[in-house]
Amino acid sequence: MGAHQNLAVLVGVASLLWNAGCDAGCQGTDGHKGVDGAPGRDGLPGVKGQKGEPAVMADGPVDPVSLQRLKGDMGNPGPPGAMGLKGYQGDTGAAGPIGPQGPRGAAGKNTGAGKDNSDQEAQYSAFSAIRNESSYPAVSQPITFQTAAVNRPGDFSIATGHFTCRVPGYYYFSFHSVAKTSLCLGLASDSRDDKLVFCDYSSRMHDQMLSGGAVLQLAAGERVWLESFNDKQTAADKQDRREKQIIFNGLLLFSD
Ligand SMILES: *[C@@H]1O[C@H](CO)[C@@H](O)[C@H](O)[C@H]1NC(C)=O
Repeated sequence: MGAHQNLAVLVGVASLLWNAGCDAGCQGTDGHKGVDGAPGRDGLPGVKGQKGEPAVMADGPVDPVSLQRLKGDMGNPGPPGAMGLKGYQGDTGAAGPIGPQGPRGAAGKNTGAGKDNSDQEAQYSAFSAIRNESSYPAVSQPITFQTAAVNRPGDFSIATGHFTCRVPGYYYFSFHSVAKTSLCLGLASDSRDDKLVFCDYSSRMHDQMLSGGAVLQLAAGERVWLESFNDKQTAADKQDRREKQIIFNGLLLFSD
């Protein structure tokens, strides 16, 4: 190959020498036409074209069919938005139903501070007895009662009308009566020889209110009661059958 190329160069040089040697009169025949060259490179990009006409003129006639044709398909739903701010606190609801009963608690411990709960040991005493009988109370007999509003722990007997001291100490007794006739009532006690007596002679037409009371020091077993006694009442007083009420109260202030 290298030998052929050198030969072609030598032929070219000889041809040049010849042409220089005969300017005119030695016209040769035309050579063969050369083969087509390889395709050239792509040209530069062209300039940008002019803006096209709008599909639908903003102020022109609107063709619903054309519009429908131009409208694209509905896109996919977008992703959920960010979480909103926390709302305001609501009103308090209505109270719920009562819950079920809880389990039974554990057994308590013995502290050794307990006391016998029998009546003999109770260091309190209180009663309030009510007589509502309309009969005049029999003279010089303990007044008995129909009901006891309070009798704790039970030192008073409405059947006998006696309070019997169980806890030695200081007690306060009082009574109140209302009747349309004159009454005389006395507080009687084993602890005293005399009786604390009270009478009311204010009226025979209207209610008469009578009350009295005293603090008494009692020893165990001593009794206290209320009784009617003779003073200046008339026979009519003692036959009075109109409604009456007597309340007898007693309570332990403090024990000895
Ligand atoms: C007295 O009270 C008792 C008991 O509350 C009652 O049953 C009775 O009817 C009353 N008697 C009179 C006369 O009010």
